[in-house]
Amino acid sequence: MNHPSFRRDWPADFIWGSATAAAQIEGAAHEGGKEDSIWDAFARVPGAIAGGDTPDRAVDHYHRMPEDVALMRSLGLDSYRFSTSWARVVPGGRAVNREGLDFYSRLVDELLGAGILPWLTLYHWDLPQALQEQGGWANRDTAFRFVEYAEAVYDVLGDRVTHWTTFNEPLCSSLIGYVGGEHAPGLNDPEAGLAAVHHQHLAHGLAVERLRGLADAAGRDIRLGITLNLTNAVPNDAADPVDLEAARRIDALWNRMYLEPLLLGAYPADLLADVREFGLDSRVLPGDLEQIAQPIDFLGVNHYHDDNVSGHPLPADAAPSLRPTDRPGRSPFPGSEHVSTPSRGLPRTSMDWEVNPGGLTRLLVRLGAEYPNLPPLYVTENGAAYDDVVSADGAVHDAERTAYVLDHVDAIADAIEQGADVRGYFVWSLLDNFEWAWGYEKRFGIVRVDYDTFERTPKDSAHAFSSLIARSKTHA
Ligand code: NOJ
Repeated sequence: MNHPSFRRDWPADFIWGSATAAAQIEGAAHEGGKEDSIWDAFARVPGAIAGGDTPDRAVDHYHRMPEDVALMRSLGLDSYRFSTSWARVVPGGRAVNREGLDFYSRLVDELLGAGILPWLTLYHWDLPQALQEQGGWANRDTAFRFVEYAEAVYDVLGDRVTHWTTFNEPLCSSLIGYVGGEHAPGLNDPEAGLAAVHHQHLAHGLAVERLRGLADAAGRDIRLGITLNLTNAVPNDAADPVDLEAARRIDALWNRMYLEPLLLGAYPADLLADVREFGLDSRVLPGDLEQIAQPIDFLGVNHYHDDNVSGHPLPADAAPSLRPTDRPGRSPFPGSEHVSTPSRGLPRTSMDWEVNPGGLTRLLVRLGAEYPNLPPLYVTENGAAYDDVVSADGAVHDAERTAYVLDHVDAIADAIEQGADVRGYFVWSLLDNFEWAWGYEKRFGIVRVDYDTFERTPKDSAHAFSSLIARSKTHA
């Protein structure tokens, strides 16, 4: 291939991988002892998911796991980022389901047998519904239940899994689920949303301490981290103080509310002032912030696009920005700021997200400059949904996705050249899958899944990514 990313020099130990999440691929929603997660329950709410889709069967990974690992091996992946389903491992929130853990144990063995590094995420949004019925993340007790769950997974996989991520994109499972309402559990309650933010932070800190202690006691060298979805909040008009203020608020709510407690042990003062009426302060008990700021070994960064922020009212015809997305289209808190879609002349994916690889370079470099104690970074998600067409020969010539992935990889090489400590890239996603509120309508896979037969077909983007991996090794 003649793409600039093929001519870059990559560190010898740079990790190339792909990512998925349990609820999006496994299916077997009520098999092997698994009970409802909040996403199974939410999918039964009329109108919650596009097309009335459910995660019931997803892409049947639960039954096709060895085939999927063989596919990863054929692509030459170094690592596979997946999540364990809390509702499979601890279905009712308290008693461990050994059969659920056995599935992940087989997965890990299959990966190691294929020479693929397992990169495990403990929480990718699928809380057991039984815990939601006790308040979910708005209830502080859930943080302690999370530690029990983390320990149950560690007990069985800790001898083979070295890379552990506590949470994936806590912004989505707190604000979008509890305030924006587009994600499970589908609430519109700002106080509960901020409680969820704080309790997830606490759960992270408690789990890091517990797993670190267990690993140290066993003499195991494990890496612990968290994955955040981070953005550049770009003022729509950088000369307009209204837009600048709106961008500051969004940056506080979407980036710094996560980064600063985790890395600096404090919530940003401007954020606390912005959300004062919703009682975040009152959730923070003595000792919490120290607990939350446990040292971590890596920070996962998920990035798809920048956010163009305006403080001016949306024009009446600006509806597209309010569709379900991986972020709220409008700040769920008082203030007129919104993430608008005025065209900056950039191409867009089928999620209506801007394509702007330079934003990823900027984000990665900026993080290092803003947080001197930043641990090494891994881009744990990046990718694109497009309306794929299957050609007469059965292939999917997804030129736009291929360009998106290679251009973003190239943008990471730029960031590394500018001093960012980035050590890996995971494309989202290995397979087409259940895209949350969008159901199966949006396809992010580098491998196509036929939703009638579950047949897997690598798209052109998969072949290109595979060639890039092979090429990067010859340069290293
Ligand atoms: C982020 C989430 O972690 C993942 O689950 C989702 O499918 C992708 N973004 C694409 O929206």
